[in-house]
Amino acid sequence: MKRGGSEAKKRRAAESAVEAVDDGRVVGLGTGSTTAFAIRELGRQVDAGLDVRGIPTSFQARELAREVGVPLTTLDDATPDVAIDGADQVAAGDCIKGGGAAHAREKIVDAAADRLVLVVDDSKLAAQLAVPVPVEVLPDARRTVADAVRELGGDPELRAAERKDGPVVTDNGNLVLDCDFGAVDAPGALAADLSARPGVVEHGLFVGLADAVHVGTEEGVRVETVGD
Ligand code: A5P
Repeated sequence: MKRGGSEAKKRRAAESAVEAVDDGRVVGLGTGSTTAFAIRELGRQVDAGLDVRGIPTSFQARELAREVGVPLTTLDDATPDVAIDGADQVAAGDCIKGGGAAHAREKIVDAAADRLVLVVDDSKLAAQLAVPVPVEVLPDARRTVADAVRELGGDPELRAAERKDGPVVTDNGNLVLDCDFGAVDAPGALAADLSARPGVVEHGLFVGLADAVHVGTEEGVRVETVGD
């Protein structure tokens, strides 16, 4: 999926996060165009002798890690010391993810990690989360979850595939509703409401998970510690 943002800024943020990865670590590998820079940089570091293992969050992340030579493991066998992941929008350390429909596996890996480091270009920063929230749903629950989203004040839209007729089907075989709630005043409450609906596999609100945000700017990288 093509998404906006300056490639140089994304790259700076991603490489800055990889710089902080120590020898012997297990790293959660997020999905998307920004984390792709991180996976490529990890591959270069592995070539240079760094001992790391990655836990991918999607088909895309796994294929890229294999291509660039990052050894892989699974959540069955290891706990990530750190996860490096992108975001579609970040406000006060909380974020909305799922622009690439990988947010369910991303949340599993990110939540399991000792630390979650977000990597974004500065266009992703906002005062308040307001982009549509991707909600992965079991196919049978598409209509009932859409009704529930409307009850919660949102406007759900089934995500259409590109270069395939019909909807996006996730790596887990499910559908995605992009749910426009406008500006989200209480992300934690909305996250809990969405999680409580039968048929919701996972939503893209990541609340209270991130420890740091590496922000790529024109000038360089700004590292924001969440909670400071
Ligand atoms: C994948 O589903 C997403 O959560 C991505 O991590 C998010 O959309 C950020 O992607 P980009 O780095 O490509 O903007």
